[in-house]
Amino acid sequence: MTANPFYQRDLLSSKDIGLNEINLILSTAQKMKATSFAKSLTDKIIAHCFFEPSTRTRLSFEAAALRLGAQNIGFANKDVLSIQKGETLHDTMRMIDEYADLIVIRHPKEGAAALAAQIAKHPVINAGDGANQHPTQALIDLFTIQECQSRIDGLSMALVGDLKFARTIHSFTQLCSLYDVRLYFVSPSSLSLPDALCDDLKKRGLPFSFHHTLEEIIPKVDILYLTRIQQERFNVGDYEWVNSPFTLTTSLLQKAKSNLKILHPLPRVDEIAREVDHTPFAYYFEQASNGVCVRQALLHLILNKVAL
Ligand code: CP
Repeated sequence: MTANPFYQRDLLSSKDIGLNEINLILSTAQKMKATSFAKSLTDKIIAHCFFEPSTRTRLSFEAAALRLGAQNIGFANKDVLSIQKGETLHDTMRMIDEYADLIVIRHPKEGAAALAAQIAKHPVINAGDGANQHPTQALIDLFTIQECQSRIDGLSMALVGDLKFARTIHSFTQLCSLYDVRLYFVSPSSLSLPDALCDDLKKRGLPFSFHHTLEEIIPKVDILYLTRIQQERFNVGDYEWVNSPFTLTTSLLQKAKSNLKILHPLPRVDEIAREVDHTPFAYYFEQASNGVCVRQALLHLILNKVAL
């Protein structure tokens, strides 16, 4: 019987998770992907509270819960809530906590998931809070890298695009700092990785560098992780200036290493040309598919005393 440190725990940030805990999540997700287990959540109700648009995160969380036998409640749009009548986020979360055994929340404001966790007696999973964190996506990213490269330590990875506002990058970078990896950050200067995250990497002694073109880093890396410009986080008028700084095409991949895999948390806008989908480097749809087994692992571990 494996000890389970996640039982009844919130998951708000990548900083909440240690290396042994990541290994437990990844190995549980591997088991979930390989076999269909007895439904471990048949008496549970999961609330999926999406105050911001989502395709993958909401639907893969719902699918994960259904696969484990749980029932789903929730919403995909704040317009259907009594918040429209003036109710506060505090009171909304206070009520949802009465109806569910676990709350998954996405919200445009940084810290909203932490606030929900303070209010709720049941565990809360952060499914994205503003430009801050998206820890479950980062776990999917690690699971996918382990799957497609058979290792994480020793890899060189480029993180490309809007490194300032992409919460997936923030959470993923923090998890990477627990591994022996080399990071290349590729972005316009105005969208660089926030200083606090760079300082964390320096403290952990992780090698990293900053770049402005895809051409110079593609031949060096095993993982090319692209993100879209987070248009919704910009002030009106700023977006045009940084629109589409990078578009990956097949011609740019001519000097890629044979084992290169391309990741993207999706949705993509125009960072990856459709022609790239048909190359052996593309792995972003498999990455999105892995959302179900990784989220199954998290729901199982948070709501069951014993790990698989
Ligand atoms: N990767 C991700 O968070 O996608 P959605 O916004 O569609 O949930």
